[in-house]
Amino acid sequence: MILPQGSIPNLTLNGKGMALILGIESSCDDTSAAVVENTVMRSNVIANQAVHERYGGVVPELASRAHQKNIIPVIHEALKQAGIERSQLDAVAFTRGPGLLGSLLVGVSFAKAFALGLEIPLIEVNHMQAHILAHFLQQPNETSAIPRFPFLCLTVSGGHTQIVLVRDHFHMEVVGKTIDDAAGEAFDKAAKIMGLPYPGGPVIDRLARKGNPDAFQFPEPRIAELDYSFSGLKTSFLYFLRDRLKEDDDFIEKNKHDLSASIQKTIIKILMKKLKLAANRYHIDQIAIAGGVSANSALRRAITEAGNELGWKTYIPAFEFTTDNAAMIAVAGYFKFLNSDFTDQKVAPFARGGISI
Ligand code: KG4
Ligand code: ZN
Repeated sequence: MILPQGSIPNLTLNGKGMALILGIESSCDDTSAAVVENTVMRSNVIANQAVHERYGGVVPELASRAHQKNIIPVIHEALKQAGIERSQLDAVAFTRGPGLLGSLLVGVSFAKAFALGLEIPLIEVNHMQAHILAHFLQQPNETSAIPRFPFLCLTVSGGHTQIVLVRDHFHMEVVGKTIDDAAGEAFDKAAKIMGLPYPGGPVIDRLARKGNPDAFQFPEPRIAELDYSFSGLKTSFLYFLRDRLKEDDDFIEKNKHDLSASIQKTIIKILMKKLKLAANRYHIDQIAIAGGVSANSALRRAITEAGNELGWKTYIPAFEFTTDNAAMIAVAGYFKFLNSDFTDQKVAPFARGGISI
């Protein structure tokens, strides 16, 4: 039986009272599959693609080929680790976008075929919403605090930097965003300028631990309202290093810790300034962070400190749920499942678009 869109939820679930949702994520360079039982993670398998390292960034064509190679083993492993047969699944949730079209196509096509074959509902998920909904995931045998609505979420990844006003699971409004580079891109580009491997964010984070964040000063952008800009910072970092390298060929190597700590401090200062402004403007004290850059140790510290100082209740995701993963897609799928918000087999991926689908 294929449930038409908007049909009655299957939530009495053959008397089970719970739903097993398979999530599939393939928007960029991670192939991931996960199983949730309601909001509890039963498995979360991620295959990273090392193939991009030597190019210093994700090569879209190589990414989609790697997804094709990885997707079946990753799904197989996710079911195995969850200890279930595919016949026990209640729905298949997948990332529809935003992301790289060729990469998304692999996950979307697989999800469609899998749901059709199993005769279970298909659920499309917005990748950016899912990063935020990762806050509702529970690890087995653990209960972590979940944000109360409405809350603000600073969503910082390689492709996005947004301040999102989250009214409920699916009503999300972007109240501030970058007008050029994303925060993750700022980390990655600064790392590339320093000759560090891709992705540079975690490398800068690690090097910064032994550096002085006040060693070098970089200018902060002046951007109106709650928006961000990071391209000027990248340019000033580039020119600064070009000038220093003229005097000393080894300048980067000698100063890599201080350079990392200083650029990281500037990126975080920029992020926090607008986040505080947004919290003030919307009178919201429930503050979350999400996306790959939310793994950054200094950002996690800055949010906690701001929370102590300003009386915020802060929500910082477990490391496993910061970067791209399918558990966040599966849990977003679960909330849609409760609403019988199912997707037609005609669905196609989208590369760019808002936070709402
Ligand atoms: O959310 P994500 O995995 O993929 C996208 O949807 O873009 O985010 C990837 C981004 C990359 O730019 C990576 O450098 C950054 O997150 N990132 C970090 C850290 N870990 C990942 N940036 C700073 N510090 C980290 N520890
Ligand atoms: Zn992401």
